[in-house]
Amino acid sequence: MKFTVVNGPNLNLLGLREPDLYGSLTLKQINQRLEQRASELGVELVFFQSNHEGDLVDALQKAGKETQGVILNAAAYTHTSVALRDAILCLEIPVIEVHLTNPQAREEFRQKSLIAAVCQGTVAGFGGASYLMALDWLALYKRE
Ligand code: DQA
Repeated sequence: MKFTVVNGPNLNLLGLREPDLYGSLTLKQINQRLEQRASELGVELVFFQSNHEGDLVDALQKAGKETQGVILNAAAYTHTSVALRDAILCLEIPVIEVHLTNPQAREEFRQKSLIAAVCQGTVAGFGGASYLMALDWLALYKRE
């Protein structure tokens, strides 16, 4: 069983970027924790990060062909991207929307997600653990 972890713009700067908000973990450290949990669960992960919307669309299309689920932090594109929403609609595998912060508790423009309604569900507000929770659900769902 293989899942894809897709991270959008500015998440490559985690650890340096607004640490009071996003915490001190780097994306590499989050991915290492995910790797560790994946090996306990007996699943494989593929990691992708881009600051470019079209590259994220390509990554979702590839994920749909080669893997069985997606953990997606679309970052700022969550609130703007019809292209990512449409890409998710093309997939026949579950996509979990994740966020480190809780966008509902932030600025009004972050309170609207264009992708939430086309994802299986959303995990938000738990820092790096949001990704781990999404992974646990995917592994559970795929086993059942
Ligand atoms: C984020 C929340 C988004 O609003 C923001 O643009 C991000 C990160 C999060 O993980 O909390 O870049 O997706």
